[in-house]
Amino acid sequence: MNLLFIGAPGSGKGTQSKLLIDKFGFVQLSTGDLLRAAIANKTQVGLKAKEFMDVGRLVPDDVLIDLVSNYLRTLKVGTSVIFDGFPRTVVQAENLNNLLSSMTQKIDHVVYFNIDEKIVIDRLTGRRTCTKCGEIYHIVTKPTKVADVCDKCGSATVQRPDDKQEVIGKRLSEYAKNTAPVIDYYSNQKRMIEVNAADDPELVFKNILKYIELNNLS
Ligand code: AP5
Repeated sequence: MNLLFIGAPGSGKGTQSKLLIDKFGFVQLSTGDLLRAAIANKTQVGLKAKEFMDVGRLVPDDVLIDLVSNYLRTLKVGTSVIFDGFPRTVVQAENLNNLLSSMTQKIDHVVYFNIDEKIVIDRLTGRRTCTKCGEIYHIVTKPTKVADVCDKCGSATVQRPDDKQEVIGKRLSEYAKNTAPVIDYYSNQKRMIEVNAADDPELVFKNILKYIELNNLS
């Protein structure tokens, strides 16, 4: 089963992906994580992506489509994937559709994380992420037990460079301009469910499970 999570920056897509992975063993295809890894490894893709990510802009479609297509080809046939942060433009959505069809795959459920912009600004400015295992924290609502140290693996937690106040505004405007039409794209195909992403993480998780009847997987 393949899931696609779509929603504003900070709406909780990564948090819910990790809960689903812990319970069911999905593979998370987070394009944000793939791009950050490319930046850390100073690859050509990383160097190009950094220019866009540092200022809160979307990385060009051709870069993303290649990245996702190469990643999918490394997976074993039948792997259940959560697409987190891809597609973010209608061009990406159409390419994903063609790519999956060519692999006799499809998206089974699209989950739209609906949330007010004011809430995501608080979430993003307070978010901290583990540099090693990627666990996600928040300085107020989900702090680490020891300041700046990941509870899970003991590595340092940091603020993402694009979680600075001045970059968040641009990310949100890119979302409104480019990604809102993707929500219409899936909504028109009647394959999309909507969750109230302002609810507590446990309730959001419960609602996702309920909607997509994931219990059939276990
Ligand atoms: P990416 O890394 O994908 O970032 P994003 O979509 O902006 O999403 P976030 O990771 O910021 O938020 P999230 O929804 O996962 O929330 P989280 O669970 O962490 O992309 C970064 C950049 O890469 C883009 O700006 C772009 O430049 C580039 N890029 C990536 N994909 C691209 C693409 N396809 N095309 C072009 N460019 C692309 O939660 C956030 C915080 O809230 C955490 O602190 C968490 O603890 C807290 N929280 C989560 N859920 C709850 C809850 N229910 N209640 C209270 N707090 C909560």
